[in-house]
Amino acid sequence: MHHLLTLDGLPRATVVGLLDRAQHFADTPGDFDALRGAAVCTLFFEPSTRTRMSFQLASQRLGAHVLNFDVSTSSARKGETALDTMRNLEAMGVRGFIVRHHDDGAVARLADAARPETALLNAGDGRSNHPTQGLLDMLTLRQAKGDDFSRMRIAIVGDVKHSRVARSDLHALRALGTGDIRVCGPASLLPDDGTLADCNVTHDVDEALDGVDAVMTLRLQRERMEDGLVDSLEDYHRHYGITAERLRRAAPDAVVMHPGPINRGVEITDEVADGPRSLILRQVANGVAVRMAVLERLLGR
Ligand code: CP
Repeated sequence: MHHLLTLDGLPRATVVGLLDRAQHFADTPGDFDALRGAAVCTLFFEPSTRTRMSFQLASQRLGAHVLNFDVSTSSARKGETALDTMRNLEAMGVRGFIVRHHDDGAVARLADAARPETALLNAGDGRSNHPTQGLLDMLTLRQAKGDDFSRMRIAIVGDVKHSRVARSDLHALRALGTGDIRVCGPASLLPDDGTLADCNVTHDVDEALDGVDAVMTLRLQRERMEDGLVDSLEDYHRHYGITAERLRRAAPDAVVMHPGPINRGVEITDEVADGPRSLILRQVANGVAVRMAVLERLLGR
């Protein structure tokens, strides 16, 4: 593995190996020296809190020098392209680029143009991929429900069509052999391009939640309302919001996940997001460990 661009097609053994290593980092406080002396750069052309900060922390825990590229104060504001930005940073000795970009495939295009010794880590591109989110979600599920994914019933609820998180979760769930993957949302927010070919698709959230072990709810971007894809946030919440009452349809020990940032009261209520079944902050904590495992794999000595 030279870059991490997608989880699509990764062998099960590779995913499990990364999760095992991430679990080791999660269980072992303190710093490591796998990246000592290496320079990495977070190159984010879109906003982020969790992904960017946890990649920074993960790089620092591994001993790397970390550069943070700030679009608002960089020469990108003068029109410099992402490719020229990367080439200039490569010339300074940066070996690892952690990239978030609004265009589908942008990170793969940078990887194609990079020097042989450079590694690209996709931190989210367009609607396509968010591979480290997929891995941290699998680590969180595995900690809560064990490592036999074939017995798991998972519901993904919300705006799957525009979600790179959902795509990476689906790639990872498939790689791990998940037994029952259900996908639920309004027809306007579900893809019809074959992405859901092997999933149980429904527009009825009560049906989707029936007996599931985990509910993975997704952020609803407010511009979807302006696009006319949902009537109103209230209407969306009424039909698809995860409430304590709805959650009673799931298995008694079912857990709830959300990649963040949350629209409280839209896709999930405060009571559920902050309640005992919520793994949302566990997901965030696991983000550091997973990103350490990926950085070590791609850039470690
Ligand atoms: N989950 C996630 O990608 O969050 P950020 O946009 O804050 O990085």
